[in-house]
Amino acid sequence: MCGIMGYIGAKKASPILIEGLEKLEYRGYDSAGVAILDEGKIQVRKFKGKLSILKLDVEENPIEGNMGIGHTRWATHGEPSDVNSHPHKSSDGKIVVVHNGIIENYMEIKEELKSFGYKFLSDTDTEVIAHLLEYYYNGDILEAVKKAINKIEGAYGLGIIHADNPDMLIAVKKDSPLIVGIGEGENFIASDIPAVLKYTRKVYILENHEMAIVKKDSISLMKTDGTPITKEVFNVTWDVEAAEKGGYEHFMLKEIYEQPKAIRDTLLPRLSNGVDIKMDSINISKEYMKNLRRIYIVACGTAYHAGLIGKDILERYVRIPTIVDIASEFRYGYPFIDQNTLVIVVSQSGETADTLAALRLSKEKGARALAITNVVGSSIARESDDVLYTWAGPEIAVASTKAYTTQILALTLLALDMATKNESIAHEDKECIIENLTHLPSKVEEILSNVENINSIAEEIYRSQSMFYIGRGIDYDVAREGSLKLKEISYIHSEAIAAGELKHGTLALIEEGTPVIALVTQDRLYDKTLSNIKEVKARGAYVIAIAKEGNSEIQKSADKVIYIPDVIDEITPVPSIVPLQLLSYYVAYKRGCDIDKPKNLAKSVTVE
Ligand code: F6R
Repeated sequence: MCGIMGYIGAKKASPILIEGLEKLEYRGYDSAGVAILDEGKIQVRKFKGKLSILKLDVEENPIEGNMGIGHTRWATHGEPSDVNSHPHKSSDGKIVVVHNGIIENYMEIKEELKSFGYKFLSDTDTEVIAHLLEYYYNGDILEAVKKAINKIEGAYGLGIIHADNPDMLIAVKKDSPLIVGIGEGENFIASDIPAVLKYTRKVYILENHEMAIVKKDSISLMKTDGTPITKEVFNVTWDVEAAEKGGYEHFMLKEIYEQPKAIRDTLLPRLSNGVDIKMDSINISKEYMKNLRRIYIVACGTAYHAGLIGKDILERYVRIPTIVDIASEFRYGYPFIDQNTLVIVVSQSGETADTLAALRLSKEKGARALAITNVVGSSIARESDDVLYTWAGPEIAVASTKAYTTQILALTLLALDMATKNESIAHEDKECIIENLTHLPSKVEEILSNVENINSIAEEIYRSQSMFYIGRGIDYDVAREGSLKLKEISYIHSEAIAAGELKHGTLALIEEGTPVIALVTQDRLYDKTLSNIKEVKARGAYVIAIAKEGNSEIQKSADKVIYIPDVIDEITPVPSIVPLQLLSYYVAYKRGCDIDKPKNLAKSVTVE
């Protein structure tokens, strides 16, 4: 995710752009920049770091000019740096582009343009668009845009300005949000409505394959092939704060609902024609696999819980012993690490102090380190030998949701890749998992479109003092994450127990009405967990089962059932956690908790 803002009118553009970008910082905040056209020349200012750095620079050295585009970045291609920041210029400096999204075929285009003599300054996918526009420009910028759009593949919200066309901004949209703000004698483009709300409540919301030519006094809308279109004006009724959260009341809820997209973004670039895995960013060869003796997965909190699921799929298909450890334990333990060990560190922020220390320790002892992280250029990404990014976009709420589901997917893809190289997975198994992964985004959408049952269960349990989550195998791993989600945002005491362990102690705590959330999604463990449900039921528990669609039998044993779509057992953790995230959210909401900023917790834990 990144944020785009554009302005054309009679006022000075730079303060308007920066103010707009401030409202978009939730979309990314690792670098920021503006490009302003003044007297036929485009000035670009861009810096790594928070928007405040750019703001200070522009305050100290103001830029004149009444039109321009700006960008706040969440790095995908190329680490955060001044040169990788947007806007990006064409070689002649006349065309400038800001971009939100990912250009999938940028390497191919880059090579082609290089062969024509174009020189690239950055590692970004966006820079190819600026050069490509220059390459196609033949006196008509619109024609050049149409040709460039035909050539690029992937997702893009684009803001484009051209020094020879000082009266227009061009906005193009495919799979990344873009709106046009309609002002009086001035107009705007932006990734999201909050950026323009100070100036107008009237906007056009662009759809895929649409573009806009935005002038001071007019807006022309068209398809990307040039066919003119008309659109209804959308009148915004929300306030700025609600708009930043996309109309959701909390960032956590917004991020729960962003999961289908985060899953798609993490999976699709790594699925080759829907039948194989392509992992360009990591370098694990068949040769390496021959000498690999053990794997560690090291992480904290939710990321540790994702690691537990990773262990299951790695051991099942790669057939190499895999140990999952909490980073703060690992770093003071006696781990078995040598050059035949792969240490996978998992971290949303890429900055967690204990995980970083575990990574450094592993490298010192000769292990190869592979990071799964959501933040390009983070310390953990920089210090690891290989990086596999989760493309979840910035996660603002303290309670991690979309990072967890995408971490599970990254681990699943990694396991499939390693198992292929290890020749330890049957072709049919791999095909079946990939097929199921492909449908995962729509399965999660299904859950998110029908939440009433979950909300009404929350109504029944939100006054509880204590709750338990039970399951076996990966259901137990998901139970641990479900339990953490509940306790951190609702402040209800909660514990996850391996269902078979109940009778060894915890059963003593089950009383009349104690909520027990029982995950029963694993076919081979179903009967066993069902017996444990009966055990807690006999002690008065109020049982809420998470089961696969089609399992009507479970209704006889549980008080309530939350169904998840039917997927193969290996990938149930993704659909299973979504209702548990929502349940925690609704419970916390009904208790009046500060959901996005729970007490005593911080988003990034950079101290030991
Ligand atoms: C819980 C949560 C934390 C983090 C943990 C690790 O919802 O967010 O448990 O998962 O602090 O953080 P990262 O993944 O940034 O290393």
